[in-house]
Amino acid sequence: MGENHNCVRQSSDMAEEEMPSSCTCNGNVWATQQWRSMECKTKLNVDLQLSNDNCDPDNLERANYYDVYDWDSASITHKKMELFPKWRLPAKVAFSLSVLFFIYTFLREVLHPYLMHKRNEFYRIPILVINKVLPDVAITLLTLAYLPGVLATILQLHRGTKYRRFPQWLNTWMLRRKQFGLLGFFAGAMHAIYSLSYPMRRSYRYKLLNWAYEQVQQQRESSWIEHDVWRMEIYVCLGIIALAILAILAVASIPAVGNSLSWREYNFIQSKLGHIALFLCTVHTLVFAWNKWVDVKQFIWYTPPTFMVVVLLPSAVLLSKAVLILPCFSKRIQKIRCGWESSKRTGTRCVLTHL
Ligand code: HEM
Repeated sequence: MGENHNCVRQSSDMAEEEMPSSCTCNGNVWATQQWRSMECKTKLNVDLQLSNDNCDPDNLERANYYDVYDWDSASITHKKMELFPKWRLPAKVAFSLSVLFFIYTFLREVLHPYLMHKRNEFYRIPILVINKVLPDVAITLLTLAYLPGVLATILQLHRGTKYRRFPQWLNTWMLRRKQFGLLGFFAGAMHAIYSLSYPMRRSYRYKLLNWAYEQVQQQRESSWIEHDVWRMEIYVCLGIIALAILAILAVASIPAVGNSLSWREYNFIQSKLGHIALFLCTVHTLVFAWNKWVDVKQFIWYTPPTFMVVVLLPSAVLLSKAVLILPCFSKRIQKIRCGWESSKRTGTRCVLTHL
C-alpha cells in the first residue's frame, strides 16, 4: 500500500550517490524484480521505498541464512534486532490519533449528555464511540499515505529537478506510506465490522421498540424518510466498494504479489486505485454527513462533529492531486521525472548530479 510513484519516491538520491543502493544489493533479493532493476540500470532514479526494502538488513539475512541456528548473533546489529522498526512511526501516529478522537468523541457524545441533560450514555463507549474513532483514524491514516506523494510532487515542481534530496522528514514519511496505508485499511475493516454489527445490539433493539411505540402514539403509519433512506444506501454502498478496493491494495502490497506485477500494474493499483479508494472514502463520509453540515445541533459545546474534521485533509489531498494532473502540471512533472531540469537549475547543479 502507499503510492508507487517510482518517479516521486525515487527521486532524490542520485545527486549524491553514484550507484543506487538497490542495485548493489544481493542479487537474489532483487533478481525477481525485473522492472525495478531495469530502473536501476538506467540510473535515472533511486526508488527509496524499494531500495530500502531490498537493502533491508532483515531481507539480506533471510537471503543469506537458511537455518535459524546458522545465525551469528554477534554479527546481528542492534538495528536488525529492533521489533517492527518500520511500523514505529505509523503505529505511534495511529495511536495518538485514536486517543485524540476517542477523547473528542467521548466529550461530545457521552459527557455532554450526562452533564447537560443527566442522560446516561456510557453504553455508547464500546461500540458507538469506538466506531467513530476507527473510521476517523482510518481515513486520516489513508490520507497520510497519499499526502507525502503530493508534497513530493509539489517540491519537485517547485525545484524544477528531481536530482535533489527531499528533506529528511519527507524522505522518512515517503518510506512509511505502505505502513500508514495498511494501518488505515485495518482500521477501515474494523469499522466495517463494527458498523455491520449495529442491528445486533440489544440497545438498538430497545431503541427500535421505543421508536415504534412513539410512532403508534403519534398515530403515524409510516416512518419512511425518503432522503434518509437514500443517504444510507449510498454511503454504505460507497463504504463497501472503498473497502474492497483497499483490500486489493493491501494484497498487492505483499512483496510476493507486488513482485509478480509489472511496474505499470503495480503503479496502477497503488497510485490510481489508491486515490480512487481515498476518493470513495471521502465521498462516503460526505454522504454520511449529508445535510448535517448546516445543522446547528451538531456543534456540541461549539465543537464541529468528527466527520467534518476528518474530511478536510483528504479533500485537500484529492483537490491537490486533481490540480497536479492538469496537463500544465503533469507534463512538466513528467519531464522532470525523465531527467529534465528547468533552466534555472541547469549549470553547476547538472554537472554535479551527473558526475
Ligand atoms: C463495509 C464498509 C463500510 C461500512 C458498512 C461503513 C458504514 C458506516 C457507518 C454505518 C457509519 C456511521 C457510523 C456512526 O455514525 O455511528 C460510517 C461513518 C463513517 N465511515 Fe464508514 N463504512 C464502511 C467503510 C468505510 C471506510 C473504508 C472508511 C474510510 C477509511 C470509512 C470512513 C467513515 C467515516 C470517516 C465516517 C464518519 C465517522 C464520524 O462520524 O466521525 N468507512 N460508516
